[in-house]
Amino acid sequence: MTSPTAAPLCAGRVVAVTGAGRGLGRAHALAFAAEGARVVVNDLGVGPDGSGPATGPAKRVVEEIRAAGGEAVAHHGDIATTEGAGSLVATALDVFGRFDTLVNNAGFLRDRMLVNLDEDDWDAVTRVHLKGHFLPLKHAAAHWRAEAKAGRTPEARVVNTSSGAGLLGSVGQGNYAAAKAGIVGLTLVAAAEMGRYGIQVNAIAPAARTRMTEDTFAATMAAPGEEGAFDAMAPENVSPLVVWLGSAASTGVTGRVFEAEAGRITVMEGWRPGPGVDKGARWTPAEAGAAATGLLAAAEPPHPVYGAR
Ligand SMILES: NC(=O)c1ccc[n+]([C@@H]2O[C@H](COP(=O)([O-])OP(=O)(O)OC[C@H]3O[C@@H](n4cnc5c(N)ncnc54)[C@H](O)[C@@H]3O)[C@@H](O)[C@H]2O)c1
Repeated sequence: MTSPTAAPLCAGRVVAVTGAGRGLGRAHALAFAAEGARVVVNDLGVGPDGSGPATGPAKRVVEEIRAAGGEAVAHHGDIATTEGAGSLVATALDVFGRFDTLVNNAGFLRDRMLVNLDEDDWDAVTRVHLKGHFLPLKHAAAHWRAEAKAGRTPEARVVNTSSGAGLLGSVGQGNYAAAKAGIVGLTLVAAAEMGRYGIQVNAIAPAARTRMTEDTFAATMAAPGEEGAFDAMAPENVSPLVVWLGSAASTGVTGRVFEAEAGRITVMEGWRPGPGVDKGARWTPAEAGAAATGLLAAAEPPHPVYGAR
């Protein structure tokens, strides 16, 4: 199951994709397999709000990969638990004998305005996205660090999944935006800590038509009318960048965030110092206000928050 026109980008690599039973994760898993990778297809098989686990989605994607001539195994663990994250890495090593790339992708939504957001909805969404990135990353990195210390420095890759909501904010998604912003911070720290062990860590902020976005983007995400037309919002359009970031070919790229949507790839340039002033002593509040007002007049205006009026 290799690309007909070029040498497979991921030949010999073993890749785990979390939440790969549907949507973007499924597209990533199939795309990695098409580039020669052996794939661990993780999915807890939950509903759009995280309820009711099932084994069907991961199994079906494994069958699709095998039917196309690729190699894959299903993993049904909850990646926001130590057991699920640890067994994900163990499955790659036990079944395929190596582990090269982790794609953190699993998650779900519970959207509410902040005043209506229950503590449970906050906990569930920050848990699945933020802890669900941290734990697989930690277990994968422990394996790769041991490899590096044994003199086998890997070409290891981690691709995390943030969101425009985490980069710019999104009305009605306070829990999700906080978790996705946290994933950017986690990505920067992991890239800085892990480079010495041969581990590169990047993040994407995707946009595609999946069950997660069919309500949000209904008007702009219609399926293509004509056969053969470019289906701009197909999840498969996001996967090529993820496959490249997850391959050995992306050497030297780490700690970066990319938006990926339709045919467009954008490097996101994050927080950096804008206009500043140093008094060299403590300000009074009134002085600080006057200084801040002057600096704001000279600063770039912020991008609007998604959904803000
Ligand atoms: N679709 C978009 O436009 C978009 C935009 C920005 C970010 N994202 C992010 O992309 C990722 C994939 O989203 P999608 O749109 O494909 O959603 P999706 O609902 O189609 O797929 C997510 C999958 O994750 C699985 N999952 C949920 N909790 C899990 C857990 N604890 N352990 C293992 N698997 C679990 C679900 O069963 C589901 O199959 C998410 O992190 C999402 O926040 C998507």
